[in-house]
Amino acid sequence: MVKNGSNLFFGKALCMTCHLGPNFTDSQFHNLGVGWDAAANKMKDEGRVKISGKAEDTGAFKTPTVRDVAKHAPYMHDGSVATLKDVVEHYNKAGNPNPHLDPRMVKLNLSATEVDELVAFMEALNGEGYQDTVPTAFPQ
Ligand code: HEC
Repeated sequence: MVKNGSNLFFGKALCMTCHLGPNFTDSQFHNLGVGWDAAANKMKDEGRVKISGKAEDTGAFKTPTVRDVAKHAPYMHDGSVATLKDVVEHYNKAGNPNPHLDPRMVKLNLSATEVDELVAFMEALNGEGYQDTVPTAFPQ
């Protein structure tokens, strides 16, 4: 299960195109369509563009680590995704379409079993033996 999930993470599911290296992050900013408001035709939170001023950074957020990620629901910058399974489903459907979607966001055609295997792989990235206090609120 975990081994299959690892093969998917570093292969078919393309997770390693952004989550790579010792901390599973490229330290770059990407738009996955999280927080896209289709009705209003805009991002609820504009993200990186506020700092960089570059239009292509609209809706882009920094790739977070996936170490200890299973301990830290809910997910994404706005906590809008409840479970790791929902996160994988977000990627499986190529995120939310919007004008600045990262080109790496493509339909993955993962089976239900493969989704579960990816979740099992991420659960296996939990460490122990050091202080890890779950925050109770988002940074203000
Ligand atoms: C295009 C780059 C990219 C790809 C490909 C990608 N990620 Fe991400 N990942 C991100 C970014 C950026 C965020 C934060 C997005 C946000 O907060 O709006 C994120 C967030 C996450 C989170 C939530 C972490 C948290 O603490 O909230 C998980 C879990 C995750 N990704 C797992 C995966 C898995 C599994 C795959 C493969 C199926 C994958 N990612 C593919 C860039 C990527």
